[in-house]
Amino acid sequence: MQKRQLGPCVTFFPQPTTLVSTVGNDGRKNVMTASWAGIVSKTPPTMAISLNKGRKSYQHIHETGDFVVNMVPASLVVEADYCGLRSGSDDDKFEQAGLVAADAQIVKSPLVDQCPLNVECRFVQEVEIGDYRLILGEIVEVNASEEAFASEGGMDARTFDPLTYLGGIREYWSLGDHVADAYKDGSKLFKKQDG
Ligand SMILES: Cc1cc2nc3c(=O)[nH]c(=O)nc-3n(C[C@H](O)[C@H](O)[C@H](O)COP(=O)(O)O)c2cc1C
Repeated sequence: MQKRQLGPCVTFFPQPTTLVSTVGNDGRKNVMTASWAGIVSKTPPTMAISLNKGRKSYQHIHETGDFVVNMVPASLVVEADYCGLRSGSDDDKFEQAGLVAADAQIVKSPLVDQCPLNVECRFVQEVEIGDYRLILGEIVEVNASEEAFASEGGMDARTFDPLTYLGGIREYWSLGDHVADAYKDGSKLFKKQDG
């Protein structure tokens, strides 16, 4: 495969499209789009998000010590893009985007009700990376839409319809088909045992 060098840049995909929801000490709720987000440990369950230190959301996380990472379904693409274009310092984004803030089980930050998967995190620590802060949050609860459990055999990913973000080329895509099963189909390449 012939390659073209892109230089040091942030082109890598897919990334998740998430909405990070928070609340300030003044009780004002906010929601911002973040694609630099992911699970980084199982024990303890931990999520990392990377925020520019100028974000209103970053200020909120420091005020309350928690945040919620909401998985964005493809149907909310316009709302999610809006939440990445405007700051909570200027707009009430919940109101403007028609997003509904629901109470979380454990943390003070709200869930985005229309998102089918909401991960409640308690701030643990942060790492300074230039203007960004890699924020680690211990996962204290995960809320998944009941609809996903309607059929037998575990969670049905189609009901989530996760929106992915193609960083570097700035495009949103939805998922394609289920192509294989993890921790299983790679075993087809195991060496055959003698006998
Ligand atoms: C697709 C997309 C992904 C983004 N990902 C991040 C991110 O991971 N970290 C970040 O600091 N900003 C990210 N942004 C920019 C913020 O969402 C944007 O600056 C927002 O206005 C910040 O809101 P706030 O000031 O209310 O917190 C992203 C924007 C878009 C459109």
